[in-house]
Amino acid sequence: MSTKPRLEGKVALITGAASGIGEEAVRLFAENGAFVVAADVQDELGNQVAASIGQDRVSYRHCDVRDEKQVEETVSYTLEKYGSLDVLFSNAGIIGPKTGILELDINGFDDTMATNVRGVAATIKHAARAMVGKNTRGSIICTTSVAASLGGAGPHAYTVSKHALVGLVRAACSELGASGIRVNCISPFGIATPLSCMAYNLQPDEVEANSCAAANLKGIVLKARHVAEAALFLASDESTYISGHNLSVDGGFTVVNQRFSAI
Ligand SMILES: NC(=O)c1ccc[n+]([C@@H]2O[C@H](COP(=O)([O-])OP(=O)(O)OC[C@H]3O[C@@H](n4cnc5c(N)ncnc54)[C@H](O)[C@@H]3O)[C@@H](O)[C@H]2O)c1
Repeated sequence: MSTKPRLEGKVALITGAASGIGEEAVRLFAENGAFVVAADVQDELGNQVAASIGQDRVSYRHCDVRDEKQVEETVSYTLEKYGSLDVLFSNAGIIGPKTGILELDINGFDDTMATNVRGVAATIKHAARAMVGKNTRGSIICTTSVAASLGGAGPHAYTVSKHALVGLVRAACSELGASGIRVNCISPFGIATPLSCMAYNLQPDEVEANSCAAANLKGIVLKARHVAEAALFLASDESTYISGHNLSVDGGFTVVNQRFSAI
């Protein structure tokens, strides 16, 4: 059996890399032979992640995805440092306001879209330019959510933003296929990360208990690492003909009726 690292020699840019799913992906991609640019707005945490793995393999960059200039500079930095960009894991996201539709917080709605949709669009734009410019058959992966397929699986602005991301992925897929670039997304179920713990003011074990109670697949607790493993698959050559796909990492949650069982 081949023991070749699954991302050997590849260069990856990961956003939302200082914490949660992004941090796990930085570690897993580096373990699998990638050089990683870890981008986030939490500089102290991001630098700690890079230092704990090794600056020869991972470098941290401040990048607020809401600011296109910062995104463009981060992609340029990646090209200058490593010469190419093979993988974009556009993962940064926020939960946004939790108000109902009757009290919808419009400013909070805009903020959510600015990070979760406009920010991801900016990363795809500049990463794809870099890939096309270097004739790289790259892989672009975005983090959506079960809230990309269901209403009521997250706050409303969040749900809208994650549905929009699926459209963004399909649109980008339709254009970038001509350049050999694959574009996919991953839709995780609830995981205990700072995003979910802070949103609901719960401890990680409480978030996990709630997720397990609502889950379709029993006997396993979904962790950020499981999502990072899905991203690794989509980043690697093992998924070489997969594009435009929304890979659910939800134990079947979005395809079964949770309230009604016929058997
Ligand atoms: N935790 C869950 O239950 C869950 C479920 C489904 C999808 N997701 C999605 O997973 C992704 C990662 O979230 P997580 O759960 O790992 O949470 P997290 O809070 O641990 O990580 C999110 C990271 O994104 C960064 N970030 C936020 N705004 C940013 C910006 N403007 N520019 C750059 N970085 C920014 C944060 O600083 C943080 O480090 C998000 O897109 C989220 O919507 C999470």
